[in-house]
Amino acid sequence: MKIHFIYGTESGNAQYLCDDFKDATPENFECEISEMNNVDATNLDGDTFYVIVSATFGTGDVPSTAEDFYDDLLEEKPDLSHIKFAVFGLGDESFGETFAQGSQKLMEAMLDCKAHMIGERGIHDASGSLPPEVAGLPWWEGILAKITA
Ligand SMILES: Cc1cc2nc3c(=O)[nH]c(=O)nc-3n(C[C@H](O)[C@H](O)[C@H](O)COP(=O)(O)O)c2cc1C
Repeated sequence: MKIHFIYGTESGNAQYLCDDFKDATPENFECEISEMNNVDATNLDGDTFYVIVSATFGTGDVPSTAEDFYDDLLEEKPDLSHIKFAVFGLGDESFGETFAQGSQKLMEAMLDCKAHMIGERGIHDASGSLPPEVAGLPWWEGILAKITA
């Protein structure tokens, strides 16, 4: 199986987390990491498992590096019924009700296009003391267990 980690970031954490996820993935998987805007939301591959890793910016918005992908989902509404994906969000709880809304918006847009979500959305809170990988790696191990079961 192919795994494509696609990140939306402003300051790099989501991208670094994709590196950590890839390093924690067994070698029999073919892994790729891309900025989300470099992935065509209207042409996703049914043989690939997509892992969306996204921060939140502005006021609960997707980062600029994910905007094109997100807009294509909303405007083009591709049929993603052949696509499986998982979502991990980065945010900061001190932003209140917009906490981790960027990843929430991407998740909802994928579901609206009929893609199949595996597992629960993972979340990292930057206002806490733990680095993203401490929250992220156990979540990723759980997703890996589901897709290999
Ligand atoms: C200008 C700015 C706006 C932000 N807005 C939000 C927000 O609305 N909600 C939220 O949960 N986090 C918000 N954050 C926090 C980031 O999502 C968080 O720090 C994240 O870990 C950054 O990840 P990145 O390095 O991949 O960009 C904001 C951060 C900045 C600098």
